[in-house]
Amino acid sequence: MVSSSQKILVTGGAGFIGTHTVVQLLKGGFHVSIIDNFDNSVMEAVHRVRELVGPQLSQNLDFTLGDLRNKDDLEKLFSKTKFDAVIHFAGLKAVGESVANPRRYFDNNLVGTINLYEVMAKYNCKKMVFSSSATVYGQPEKIPCVEDFKLQAMNPYGRTKLFLEEIARDIQIAEPEWRIILLRYFNPVGAHESGKLGEDPRGIPNNLMPYIQQVAVGRLPELNVYGHDYPTRDGSAIRDYIHVMDLADGHIAALRKLFTTENIGCTAYNLGTGRGTSVLEMVDAFEKASGKKIPLKLCPRRPGDATEVYASTEKAEKELGWTAKYGVEEMCRDQWNWAKNNPWGYSGKP
Ligand code: UD1
Repeated sequence: MVSSSQKILVTGGAGFIGTHTVVQLLKGGFHVSIIDNFDNSVMEAVHRVRELVGPQLSQNLDFTLGDLRNKDDLEKLFSKTKFDAVIHFAGLKAVGESVANPRRYFDNNLVGTINLYEVMAKYNCKKMVFSSSATVYGQPEKIPCVEDFKLQAMNPYGRTKLFLEEIARDIQIAEPEWRIILLRYFNPVGAHESGKLGEDPRGIPNNLMPYIQQVAVGRLPELNVYGHDYPTRDGSAIRDYIHVMDLADGHIAALRKLFTTENIGCTAYNLGTGRGTSVLEMVDAFEKASGKKIPLKLCPRRPGDATEVYASTEKAEKELGWTAKYGVEEMCRDQWNWAKNNPWGYSGKP
């Protein structure tokens, strides 16, 4: 049964995908408890969530400053509240940083998650929605990517996602009462339509859309286009960009599936649109949405990048009853609305 009083622990709930999902959870009638260590997020984002859902629904939201690497932080939460499920976002995701400092990635992503499973098991909370990534497909041999493809990691960050998928499968096989959904995100972009929530990366962005956004507001001079000689329609690489609100709704669909499907086991779903867009097409769409010119510098390919990646959406459509609603135009519209209202992100200062 899915009842409105269900209590969901959201790790990393102050982050980009976390905040958008928490808004949808609260609007869907769930009670939410966030744990976040503010490694790449800020308290202001949680205040904005409260502002968006209003005082009434805000009463259903708790926040704890804590770190999954510290088991005591989890113990304190679980001993106080009986959670019905966990949505586990908390983790690091910068590929370059993971190559330079793999221990930091293994510590945060692996140790943090293993602690979480331990404490969940102890308190008999055995339903989990896990943030995986299309990175587990590596350089896919075929497209669209289908969930039963052979998996492959290209870097330490990707390895943490791959290991964590394997760990989830092993735990569920050993203890069949677990219900685990692994959500493989393609390229999350866009922002809440209110312009109050969005992505606010620390330092120079690694990913395409936050970078374009910072060029548009004058924080960065130009966009480096990594690769213009790919065998694609315009020479730039192709990805499956997905609006963060669609992604958020995908988590609600996954959660409902967990609550209603006794024998779900441990299973993966792609969250993408099934459509590929090139870097240059994305720039073009953003220029149209913002009315800003994005100066470009054509650069060599970024090591490890695939030519073309997009999702097969069939499994999520069929089993979760979920499909992405938004296209590239809405993604760029909402991303720009967030950028122009918050050119320096949540802090409001350079
Ligand atoms: C990247 C990671 C992926 C991770 C995801 C997290 C790699 C190889 N993959 O995905 O593992 O899960 O971020 O969000 O790093 N681009 C530019 N200029 C830029 C930035 C990006 O041209 O300044 C291009 C890239 O070469 C790529 C496309 O834009 O073709 C998308 O890049 P990005 O946003 O970093 O996402 P992915 O590389 O797909």
